[in-house]
Amino acid sequence: MNVRDVVLEAIKRPALRALHATPRGEAAILRVYLEGEEHAERAVLMDPVTETSPPWLARWLVKHRADEARHAGMLRARIRTLTGRAQVATGGMDPISRWKMRRLARLAENCAPRFAAGLLVPILAIAWRMEQMGVKVFRRHVDVLRARGTPTPTLHLLEKILKDERGHVAACERALGRLVTAPEQNDLAMLVFRIDRIERAFGVLGAAVLFTLGVTLWLVQPLSARASSTSPSPTRAVT
Ligand SMILES: [Fe+2]
Ligand SMILES: [Fe+2]
Repeated sequence: MNVRDVVLEAIKRPALRALHATPRGEAAILRVYLEGEEHAERAVLMDPVTETSPPWLARWLVKHRADEARHAGMLRARIRTLTGRAQVATGGMDPISRWKMRRLARLAENCAPRFAAGLLVPILAIAWRMEQMGVKVFRRHVDVLRARGTPTPTLHLLEKILKDERGHVAACERALGRLVTAPEQNDLAMLVFRIDRIERAFGVLGAAVLFTLGVTLWLVQPLSARASSTSPSPTRAVT
């Protein structure tokens, strides 16, 4: 882990602990994941070019989409329990994610002619890196909840999603292995480098959003709840 990643982890882990101090905070972070499941991941897999996939890939895409829909359903159910409200509003894709998706779509179109399988390769490469980012996000959250030691159904839910996301990463890698020819390997490596650069820029913004969300929800707690919370203050945690 480089210095930048260490700093981001130092922000995100205390922010997650702060969010778990109240059901409202827990629901807020699960809503962020729900938006990811419903919009970002699905936007990539729903690209019209996936309709031209070979049969083996089309079969896998059906399963993959079903997994993501199941994750969204599980998150919705947990948010409902936490908030006590039947309606779960996510508000669509946030402006930062829209910006990221636009940049990724431009990159995919520019790189597609370099591959015999065309646009399918950059689409799958983007899905692969997004799934990997999902694994990182869910693994971090699972680690935080395990270390916290207080039982919560959210831990079991996130462990299930994490297991599926790991399977998605492996499936994307296998699909790219079948579609990308040996002479195209350098172009794939360059494409992945560029995708990761966009993701990393987003990671800094994502940390800022998470931190702000954690601080805001911690501040709006009643004073008594704040005092009895075992979670460290997010302000203290980043200094
Ligand atoms: Fe998912
Ligand atoms: Fe996934």
